[in-house]
Order: sequence, then structure tokens, then C-alpha cells
Amino acid sequence: YPGAQQYVPDSRDLADLAAASAGCRGCDLYKAAERTVFGAGVRDARILFVGEQPGNEEDIAGEPFVGPAGHLFDKALERAGIDRGTVYVTNAVKHFRFDRSANGRRRIHKKPSGGQVAACRPWLEAELDAVRPDVVVCLGATAAQSLLGKDFKLTQHRGEVLHLPEELCGSCDPAVVVTVHPSAVLRAKSQRDDMFRSFVHDLERAATL
Ligand code: URA
Ligand code: SF4
Repeated sequence: YPGAQQYVPDSRDLADLAAASAGCRGCDLYKAAERTVFGAGVRDARILFVGEQPGNEEDIAGEPFVGPAGHLFDKALERAGIDRGTVYVTNAVKHFRFDRSANGRRRIHKKPSGGQVAACRPWLEAELDAVRPDVVVCLGATAAQSLLGKDFKLTQHRGEVLHLPEELCGSCDPAVVVTVHPSAVLRAKSQRDDMFRSFVHDLERAATL
């Protein structure tokens, strides 16, 4: 993939970045999806959350984390005492990747490839540079691998306070923590309550960094 770099303007105004991202053709994902779903939130956010990619509902609404995973995320934020109105929320990949169900009616989430994650990373770098957060929370392995390297193992580093490679946010050095993706909590069956509690615990801890 050519990657997003050529579409990213010099401006670090979030509205400028979002507007430019609508025309991104840095990988093939813009073709099938409805729209670019850029990050959302406040530019002076202390905490920046990174998910994987927009889902079906986010692709329709044009906002990150507004579908089922978003509802669980909202509930966890509230339980952790974090006001979503004070944070910035984005994704490692800005377009929805999906397969069609056999009858063609449903769009089924498909994990983005490493090449697509790399292609989209310039947008995430620009967001980091615009927001310059104190804390970055990676929601799941895709976010963690985008920021911390493709071989990063979430389960090995959960609970640690990490740092970004220097080239990713030269002008800032946020504390980075990794936790599960809210969709993983939704998918969990018998351990769902335990997973939700530990997710909330990770968010509470992130808020203290
Ligand atoms: N899952 C994500 O990773 N991001 C969203 O925006 C929605 C669901
Ligand atoms: Fe550009 Fe990212 Fe969309 Fe690919 S997924 S077209 S790199 S915004």
C-alpha cells in the first residue's frame, strides 16, 4: 500500500486532519467502506484511546465507538470515573474492513491486515501530535501493535507502563498502557463479568498516570 502519509496535511488542527482523512486512499479499505471514521474528542484530552477499526455502526455514523463495543466502552468509562467528554477516542485503522455474509445482507467485521495498519498509522501519529496526551490506552492487540510493534504481545505487557518509540510522537512522551478490546469483553461468555471488571480496573489505573 502507498500509505496515508501523502494525504496527511501539515496542520495539527484536528478538524483539518479529519477533513483531509475523508479523501484518504492510502490503502484499499476506502473502496468498500462508506466513509473514513476519524478520531473524536477534545484536543486537550489527557487520555487518548486507540481501538482497532470502526465497525458496521461506526461506518454508518462516521463516529468511533458508537456501536455495541462503544456502549460497553461507555459503561466501563463511567464505572472508572472517566468522562468521555474529556478524552480523545480513535482507531488504528480509519476504515471498516468487512466480509459480506452469504446472503450479502450483513457486513461481518474482518481484522485489518498488518499492511493496512501500517498504511493508516500516519493518521494516528498526526492525532498523537495534535492531542499530545499524557496517557495512551491501547484497546486490544491491533492498537498495541500499531504503536508498539507488530510482534507486541498484549497478554505479556498488560498492566505495564510503556513508552512510544521515539519516531511516533517526537514532541511528547505519554505513558502507554494496553488493555483488552471492548469487543473481547462482549464476546466472553462465562468470564464476561470478570473481564469487564479487569477492563474497568485498567481504565482506572490509566486515569491515575
Ligand atoms: N471497535 C473499534 O475498535 N473501534 C470502533 O470504533 C468500534 C468498534
Ligand atoms: Fe487511508 Fe487508513 Fe482508510 Fe486505508 S484505512 S484508506 S490508510 S484512512
